[in-house]
Amino acid sequence: MKNPLLAVNNIHTYYDRSHILQGINLEIYSGEVVILIGRQGAGKTTTLLSIMGIQPSKNGSILFAGKEIAGKPSWEIARLGIGLIPENRRIFPDLTVAENLEVAMKSAIGGYNKRSAYGDFPELYPLRDRPAQNLSGGEQQMLTIARTLMGNPKLLLMDEPTEGLAPLLVKRIAESMVRLRDRGQTLLITGHNITFAFDLGDRAYIIDTGTIEWSGEMKQLREQPEILERYLALSN
Ligand SMILES: Nc1ncnc2c1ncn2[C@@H]1O[C@H](COP(=O)(O)OP(=O)(O)O)[C@@H](O)[C@H]1O
Ligand SMILES: [Mg+2]
Repeated sequence: MKNPLLAVNNIHTYYDRSHILQGINLEIYSGEVVILIGRQGAGKTTTLLSIMGIQPSKNGSILFAGKEIAGKPSWEIARLGIGLIPENRRIFPDLTVAENLEVAMKSAIGGYNKRSAYGDFPELYPLRDRPAQNLSGGEQQMLTIARTLMGNPKLLLMDEPTEGLAPLLVKRIAESMVRLRDRGQTLLITGHNITFAFDLGDRAYIIDTGTIEWSGEMKQLREQPEILERYLALSN
């Protein structure tokens, strides 16, 4: 079997003396879409921040493309090919859609450009001259993803990308993620309500109180809703 693109092995992460991640293990293969599900406070964001080196783990190992990245500074991890879309959207509100993309292109590596962005997110093209602050939440999320893709990440981490969006926008974001998946983008997406990911994810992990409680095929979660009920009963 091929080696995973990302292999997180037994990481422990603290905020001061609070022991939050208590031995997380997960693997992502190239081209996969993996969903990390867990209720509020389960440790989803902390997991992404640890992978990214922003809230580093104290021990354990994180191999990316076979190389140890635990302990490396986050800029180096980004340069190696991991992109993070944080919970709060990162756009310049006063700049137009096109200008936001142009600013991100200045630091772009690889061939991703405005045209690619409008291909992945056709909704953005007619809005290109509109200030980003006048976009809907879902459109701002698309712009944030497009900006991050300019860095040509081999692995894109998305922290609750559909949180707080109206159902129609959730559907459109999910559709744009399917487009990314179909052109081979590897994705790790977190969420506490993951209905949107049923047709998108290949595999899923359920996290609770800083440990992985379940992992398996997305298909299993679709067919056996009792699994989600067991671990997410207190969420939403
Ligand atoms: N900056 C922080 N300082 C102290 N505790 C934090 C901090 N950020 C998160 N936590 C705690 O870590 C736990 C996991 O949080 P988080 O990873 O944000 O969960 P999730 O993203 O699944 O909602 C929670 O108990 C939360 O209160
Ligand atoms: Mg979070």
